[in-house]
Amino acid sequence: MTSTSTTLTQAPVSTVLQQLFTEADATSATLRQTLSMLPAAERDALMASARAADFRPFYERAKEFHLAVSRETGTLLYMLARSMKARSIVEFGTSFGVSTLHLAAALRDNGGGRLISTEFEAGKVRQARGTIERAGLADLVEIREGDATQTLAGELPEQIDLVLLDGAKALYPRILELLEPRLRAGAIVIADNADWSEEYLARVRTGGRYLSVPFAQDVEMSMLITASPT
Ligand SMILES: C[S@@+](CC[C@H](N)C(=O)[O-])C[C@H]1O[C@@H](n2cnc3c(N)ncnc32)[C@H](O)[C@@H]1O
Repeated sequence: MTSTSTTLTQAPVSTVLQQLFTEADATSATLRQTLSMLPAAERDALMASARAADFRPFYERAKEFHLAVSRETGTLLYMLARSMKARSIVEFGTSFGVSTLHLAAALRDNGGGRLISTEFEAGKVRQARGTIERAGLADLVEIREGDATQTLAGELPEQIDLVLLDGAKALYPRILELLEPRLRAGAIVIADNADWSEEYLARVRTGGRYLSVPFAQDVEMSMLITASPT
């Protein structure tokens, strides 16, 4: 009999995700409320730090907040990874694991693979690992704890099919540079809130190495045309 369900849409992943999105909605509301209560100058400085080279104060303050991809972006990540038969994925910015679960579910349905994700907030790493375990996807996911500029400078898969950039926006160009030598021709790079890094947008939109388009207001999808010579 032909199966009409996917790892994403059936338990345990679907139930774990439902719970995570409920929690993410709640922490988004708390974040909005917290920001609205700050004096304008403090709020502006905090939001500016999310985009700046000195991004630590923002993420330190946001360590209880999911800052997760939307349900739509999550589903899109799953569909992209499935349709391109991705086996090797790298993610910058795990948080509590919402996007990680979508990508790992796609690997499962593609017949297996490896997802390397990275996060520097220890509490988030601990919780994300537990969540991924409960979702039954732990065998596919490696979460590297620490700053992505270091964790992704180490061992990487020979070939990377798909990348999600969803950490500190100021680092997008640097992280792409680290991963680029391993991207295969046709690899897809999704960058959330890419409009916060002009340098990143310039890198993927000009120079002829990528085809690149924005969608859903602040997500940039880029495809590497030709892989780096090895
Ligand atoms: C927008 S959230 C990621 C949301 C996640 N992709 C999801 O869908 O649930 C960004 C995360 O990146 C982490 N982060 C930011 N800069 C980082 C860095 N340089 N290295 C590692 N993690 C970082 C933050 O702590 C935060 O949890």
